[in-house]
Amino acid sequence: KDAELQQIRDSLDLAAKLYHHVLMNTPFGEVGRRYLEKRNIMKETVYEFQIGYAPDSFQFLLPFMKKRGFTEEILEKAGLISIKEETGRAFDRFRHRLMIPIHDAQGRIIGFGGRLIDGDGPKYLNSPETRLFQKRLHLFNLHRARSPIRKEQQVVLFEGSIDVISAWQAGIKTVVATLGTALTDHQASLIKRNTQNVVLCYDSDNAGQSASVKGLEILREQDCTVKIAQMPIGLDPDDYIRRHGGDLFKEEIIAGALPSVAFTLESLKRNFNLKDEDARMKYLSQAVGVIADLPKPIEQEHYLQKLSNEFGLSLEALKEECRRERKKKR
Ligand code: GTP
Ligand code: MN
Ligand code: MN
Ligand code: MN
Ligand code: MN
Repeated sequence: KDAELQQIRDSLDLAAKLYHHVLMNTPFGEVGRRYLEKRNIMKETVYEFQIGYAPDSFQFLLPFMKKRGFTEEILEKAGLISIKEETGRAFDRFRHRLMIPIHDAQGRIIGFGGRLIDGDGPKYLNSPETRLFQKRLHLFNLHRARSPIRKEQQVVLFEGSIDVISAWQAGIKTVVATLGTALTDHQASLIKRNTQNVVLCYDSDNAGQSASVKGLEILREQDCTVKIAQMPIGLDPDDYIRRHGGDLFKEEIIAGALPSVAFTLESLKRNFNLKDEDARMKYLSQAVGVIADLPKPIEQEHYLQKLSNEFGLSLEALKEECRRERKKKR
């Protein structure tokens, strides 16, 4: 120790090279190349992200790596192979998957995300948690995006690595993604070190919406200024970019992202039938409650004014309500 850690790193580097080579230059990789074509991922992008293909075999990576001197123990600790408990037999963890290397903030490979090409099995399979790969501590693509993020003072946070790759290919470079889990405090602090302006761009399904609510909370604890992108129903960022292109994604989706207060009020509103007078009053009083929590008086006045316009109530009445809410909370 830590000769072991170095061997784990070496095995991950070599595996990435092998998977990439298989995808680019061999007949095995044909199915992967067709899949990428279907998804509009260009050769340059495949090269830049070192995307690879793991063939549909239990014994492909393992014998190759053994010949190169890696032990089963190291390969298992790298998360590249699994060992069947009953028989002790080792086999490749990733099969028939597009292999997307995942790096740490220094740009060293720590694991893979594997997208199933077709057939049975989970759509995505990540490396297991290892000494190097801890999902909650890393963000996909941060090492590439860091300097654009600092320069533009903005980051766009996606759900999926494919969304990142698609946006990057379209020229949007301030993009990162969580690794298949909810945003953690640690990831939020990684972001905060580079910029405080975050655009959350999750899928428009229910899972994505509730992930936005939670992510918003975590980012606000880090004092980030958060906006929430509104994806059209049924499209995720990759779908949108493929259909409408990167320019529209920038102009409509990123630039049109809702400030967090507006997003919170919109989400709240969905719980009420605003045609009903009682429900409308309940919504208004909860909305004012949200506004009362805002730190800046100017912000409060701004959103109260909007409510006043929207519901035809006097600003004075809403301000009075807001003062009462603030007192109640103290
Ligand atoms: P595509 O279908 O390839 O476009 O993937 P996607 O990125 O749109 O996937 P989706 O929106 O379904 O999921 C978003 C993210 O959740 C993925 O990037 C994965 O990180 C994770 N995820 C989705 N499905 C699975 C799964 O079956 N297993 C695991 N472990 N993670 C998943
Ligand atoms: Mn899904
Ligand atoms: Mn989704
Ligand atoms: Mn998606
Ligand atoms: Mn998708």
